[in-house]
Amino acid sequence: METKIIDGKAFSEKLVEAVAVEASKIKAAIGRPPALAVVLVGENSASKVYVRNKIERTEAAGMRSIEHKLDVNTDQATLLALIEEMNNDDAVDGILVQLPLPDQIDEDAVINAVAPEKDVDGFHVVNAGLLATGQDSLVPCTPYGCLLLLRDQLGSLSGLNAVVVGRSNIVGKPMAQLLLKESCTVTIAHSRTKDLKEVCARADILVAAVGRAEMIDGDYVKQGATVIDVGINRVLVEGTEEEGKSKLVGDVDFDQVIDKAAAVTPVPGGVGPMTIACLMYNTVAAAKKQTGIS
Ligand SMILES: NC(=O)c1ccc[n+]([C@@H]2O[C@H](COP(=O)([O-])OP(=O)(O)OC[C@H]3O[C@@H](n4cnc5c(N)ncnc54)[C@H](OP(=O)(O)O)[C@@H]3O)[C@@H](O)[C@H]2O)c1
Repeated sequence: METKIIDGKAFSEKLVEAVAVEASKIKAAIGRPPALAVVLVGENSASKVYVRNKIERTEAAGMRSIEHKLDVNTDQATLLALIEEMNNDDAVDGILVQLPLPDQIDEDAVINAVAPEKDVDGFHVVNAGLLATGQDSLVPCTPYGCLLLLRDQLGSLSGLNAVVVGRSNIVGKPMAQLLLKESCTVTIAHSRTKDLKEVCARADILVAAVGRAEMIDGDYVKQGATVIDVGINRVLVEGTEEEGKSKLVGDVDFDQVIDKAAAVTPVPGGVGPMTIACLMYNTVAAAKKQTGIS
C-alpha cells in the first residue's frame, strides 16, 4: 500500500475559494466585506512573517484587513484599550492578537479581552468552554484545519483511536476536543506520558503537536495510521553548518513514517496552509453571526 501525502496546500486553496464566495455574499448583503483586525506588538521576526501572510490572504479572499503595529514596549493597558475599541466597532468582525506577546503583557488577559464573537483565533475561555461542552463556537484554526484534513482523508472518524501528542491550549487540547466530538477514543499525551511510543503506536490517528524536530519516528506509528504533523521547526541543513542554511521540518520524521502510515501531512505544505485558511473561514463565520446573515 502506497502512503498518501496529504496535500494541505491544495485543500486550503479550495477552502479559501469557498470562503471568498461567502465573503462576497456578505459584502453584497451589508455593503462592506468582512473585516479582520490583526495586532502585532513588537518585532518578532516569525510573527512579522505570520502577520504579513495573514493580511495578504485576507485581502486575496476579498476581505478587509486592518493592521495595528504596536511598539515592543507597549503596556498592557494600551493594548487592552485598543481591543476594547475594536470590540465596540461594528466595522470589525474578527480580532487577532499575534502571539507571543512581550513579557510585560499577560497573554491570558489579552486573549480574554477580545469579544468572544470576534475571537477568530478561538482562544477565549468562552469559546474553549463552548468547544469543550460540544456547542458551536469559533474553533482554533490549526486544530480545525487538522480536523478538515482528517475528515477528507477518512470520512467518518467515529470509533477510531486518536492520540494527540501535546496539550497546549492552542493546538493539543482543542484538537482532542474536536476528535472527541467526532466520537474518536482520544488520548492526550505530553512530556510526562509514560511509554509514549507504545501509546502512539496504538493510534489510528496520530497528531503530533510537540515542537521537537522529527521526534515522532517510525516506532511511534502503527501500520496504516493517519499521521498529522502540526510541528514547524527550523533546523540547519546537514553539511551546511558553516553557511547556516536552514529548512523547515515537522515533529514527525517524514522519511521513516512514510513507510508505515496510510497517510501523512508533509511540512511544509500540510497543516500550515490550513491554519490561515481556517482563519479566513472563522472571519466569515464571525461576520455572518454578528451581522445576522445565515
Ligand atoms: N502548523 C501551524 O500552523 C502551527 C500552529 C501552531 C503551532 N504549530 C507548531 O506546533 C508545535 C506545537 O505547538 P504548541 O504551541 O502546541 O507548542 P507548546 O505550547 O510548546 O506545547 C508543546 C507540547 O508538547 C509536549 N511535549 C514537549 N516535549 C515532549 C516530549 N518529549 N514528549 C511528549 N510531549 C512533549 C509538551 O508537554 P508538557 O505540556 O508536558 O510540557 C506540550 O504539551 C510547534 O512546533 C509549533 O511551531 C504549528
